[in-house]
Amino acid sequence: MTRKIIIEPVTRLEGHGKVTIHLDDSGNVAQARFHVTQVRGFEKFCEGRLFWEMPVITSRICGICPVSHHLASAKAGDALLGVELTPTAKMLRQLMHMAQYLQSHSLHFFHLASPDLLFGMDADPAIRNVMGVIAKNPELAKKGVGLRAFGLKIIEELGDKRVHPNAAIPGGMNKALSPEKREEFLGQLDGMIADVQIAIDLIKGYYDQHSEESARFANFPTGYLGLVDDNGNLELYDGKLRLKDDKGIIREDKIAPEDYLSIIEEKVEDWSYLKFPYYKKKGYPAGIYRVGPLARLNIADGIATPLANKEFQNFKKLMGKGVVEGSLYYHYARMIEALHAAERIKSLLQDDLICSTEIWVTSTKLNEEAVGVVEAPRGTLFHHYWIDTSGMIRKVNLIVATGHNNLAMNRAVYEVAKEFIKAGKVTEGILNRVEVAIRCYDPCLSCATHSLGQMPLEISVYDSAGNIYRRLRS
Ligand code: MG
Ligand code: NI
Repeated sequence: MTRKIIIEPVTRLEGHGKVTIHLDDSGNVAQARFHVTQVRGFEKFCEGRLFWEMPVITSRICGICPVSHHLASAKAGDALLGVELTPTAKMLRQLMHMAQYLQSHSLHFFHLASPDLLFGMDADPAIRNVMGVIAKNPELAKKGVGLRAFGLKIIEELGDKRVHPNAAIPGGMNKALSPEKREEFLGQLDGMIADVQIAIDLIKGYYDQHSEESARFANFPTGYLGLVDDNGNLELYDGKLRLKDDKGIIREDKIAPEDYLSIIEEKVEDWSYLKFPYYKKKGYPAGIYRVGPLARLNIADGIATPLANKEFQNFKKLMGKGVVEGSLYYHYARMIEALHAAERIKSLLQDDLICSTEIWVTSTKLNEEAVGVVEAPRGTLFHHYWIDTSGMIRKVNLIVATGHNNLAMNRAVYEVAKEFIKAGKVTEGILNRVEVAIRCYDPCLSCATHSLGQMPLEISVYDSAGNIYRRLRS
């Protein structure tokens, strides 16, 4: 008889998740699925709105990554107008974007991931949480709070609000940066950079102490997708699409973001509200690829800021066969990006142009269709709009990071389940490890399903006859 295990809900994720595991007749894992069960339908809901409202409307998709939607949407608006931004507008957008990286990556690392790294995956969930981090290492917890607050302060200054900003508009930005604020932020940056480096040391210490498990954990071959700049460097705001395969060979390069449908297709499965994008040329599901921090560092040739690039050289040593495949290395990649974001904020603020008031351009042109793309902290984010001649939205397609990673997260759960369930015996620790595996991807489920709300993990294990065999809850 096959057996099925369900894990629901997944804690310390942004959203709501449920895991089901099906066992075969001998009690081994036949299939594991990470279900995304909420849906809100922003794509439909935006039809009939005016395109210039979209940066504000779509930032409501998510309370965790509103800036990413805000900017991708404004970029789609720029393209509908057919305009080139002023240098200052572009710098202010990048400043806001890097502030979002710093706050989002820090939140994930210090509040969600560090308990696993500090206490180990087998620690009691009662201490393996942010309160446990505060009790064991209050200085570290404080640094996390400080980094997050710093990012949020920049977002708030540019966008009037900490959560759902109102700053980017099609054609530019609606508020300049004051010289006073510029000085205030600049004065804090060296401290922020030092704090990110402490997080990086902590992660490297964990890998040193758990080298075998770090290398093996949820390690599987996939492609990697993201943006790179004209020199092949890590690029988070602009750039062209690059896709590498599991051997580190570049399969697609210099693809204009508006041509994303030439390389990606989306598959619908009846058991998940989240679609499954895949690399078209390899088909479904062989075209599995990953996005986000690990993917971006796997596809990049370098990083344009010195400290992050130095750390990136160290990261590259993990690329035995051309790419880094272990899911736990997402944490390292994520904090290398946080370091890059802090360095980039500094260089943007050091440029006098950042305080110019030339921040908006207008246009009499109106294209019918446009794509806005950014690398959101969790991965490549596409906003694709079709409008009528009055600027009213006819159709919207959104592809979010958690969607791109959908196949990979399912695969990660399968890999862990296989290790912890053998011949019908469910080993203690599976619940923690399934959570840890999913958490590497920092899924933004409110985003992926275009829904709002918090969710916690339940694993249900089913036998081959489809009956509940075991249910585990965190
Ligand atoms: Mg979509
Ligand atoms: Ni989100």
